[in-house]
Amino acid sequence: MKYQRPKGTTDIIPGESAKWQYIEQTARQLFQKYRYSEIRTPIFENFEVFSRTSGETSDIVTKEMYDFFDKGDRHITLRPEGTAGVVRAYVENKLYGPEIQRPFKTFYMGPMFRYERPQSGRQRQFHQIGVEAFGVDNPTLDVEVMAMAVNLLRQCGLQDLKLVINTLGDAESRAAYHAALMQYLEPLENELSDDSKERLHKNPLRILDSKDKEDQKIVDAAPSILDYLTPEAAEHFSTVKKLLQALDIPFEIETNMVRGLDYYNHTIFEIMSNSKAFGGHWTTVCAGGRYNGLVEQLGGPEVPGIGFGLGVERLLLVLEAEEIELPIADDLDIYVVGIGEATNEETLKLVQALRHAGYSAERDYLGRKPKGQFKAANRMSAHLTLTIGEEELRDGKANLKNMQTGNEVSVALRDIYTGFDKVYQNIVESEEE
Ligand code: HAM
Repeated sequence: MKYQRPKGTTDIIPGESAKWQYIEQTARQLFQKYRYSEIRTPIFENFEVFSRTSGETSDIVTKEMYDFFDKGDRHITLRPEGTAGVVRAYVENKLYGPEIQRPFKTFYMGPMFRYERPQSGRQRQFHQIGVEAFGVDNPTLDVEVMAMAVNLLRQCGLQDLKLVINTLGDAESRAAYHAALMQYLEPLENELSDDSKERLHKNPLRILDSKDKEDQKIVDAAPSILDYLTPEAAEHFSTVKKLLQALDIPFEIETNMVRGLDYYNHTIFEIMSNSKAFGGHWTTVCAGGRYNGLVEQLGGPEVPGIGFGLGVERLLLVLEAEEIELPIADDLDIYVVGIGEATNEETLKLVQALRHAGYSAERDYLGRKPKGQFKAANRMSAHLTLTIGEEELRDGKANLKNMQTGNEVSVALRDIYTGFDKVYQNIVESEEE
């Protein structure tokens, strides 16, 4: 039998993982500036955490859940997204207490699971970097969250992006819009796709998002949510637009944008790319929005929230297709070349001492000739080589060579063991002269 990874998953192997680390590091640094701290919630949760929040009729719940009954007969789901678990943790740990700063700002990164048909940018195990901010209804926070997402993608080298926004209003706006949409769609029921016929009575808003060509024609002439907003919801949205303009962040308004999860209200947004990675179609790399009411839904107090989730695989696909190189350096500080069996112990001690002194160090383990070892050093882009033969060993010395300048000096082993920093500075400074 040939073992293969499960369909829709990938192995992130060395080389590739350096890109992940770069993106994660960039995100961590940026989040720190915005004062978001990390939260780590379980990868699996009780089924209801997602079924009650994502929407009973959403694709995520109806088709894509990785759920099972554990040995204790508990209904468990591998998390399809980050928000519901974070909200559950927020409530369970009472992170809304009076002593806790508002907004409570948190981020996460990790795997998510959806049973989808795998294709480019759509996997069964994928990864999100996400943020959630609780306790503030002010539209300024909506704009900061969007600005942070745009910044993150830009810092990863993506320039060609489109920020698309919409509002779903508050409950009252939604109810009014729902009624208007039904009034418009019901007479057209027979012309709708089978999927949309089903959505019509369960969740008509989702029809706005239909990929079916005929549905789309109908949707184009549908009433717009913007005409049904309460004055408060309209005010919230207009402030969001004004503040995005104030920050010079370009955006488009797409009144038919809904989102695949049911917990949203007010501001929703997607950051899209039409990179050739996705065959030139506009594809969402990062998405989010406001979810006032979700905390209550999971048993907490009335606390508003907003956040986003960024698909790391999708970001990497775009970077690759656009030939954007991440500045990843994996150079080796020092390669220790040992000549002759007798030097084995000393080269071991040397690499260990160099590592303890804070340098990356490598050596040979295969008994290769010096030529082979230098080749290896070059392959690893070693800045320095430290060569020791039997004669040097007897004299308590080794040869340190700067691989860029070719400059070579003899150094006492004692100096290496007692203060390599000084030795290093000497030879590296000679590089800069
Ligand atoms: P979402 O739109 O379902 O939102 O997912 C966010 C992002 O995750 C997508 O834009 C995409 O980049 C990535 N993604 C989703 N499914 C897949 C997949 N099967 N394969 C690869 N990438 C995928 C959420 O999950 C919300 N929790 C976002 C949020 C946070 N809203 C508020 N806070």
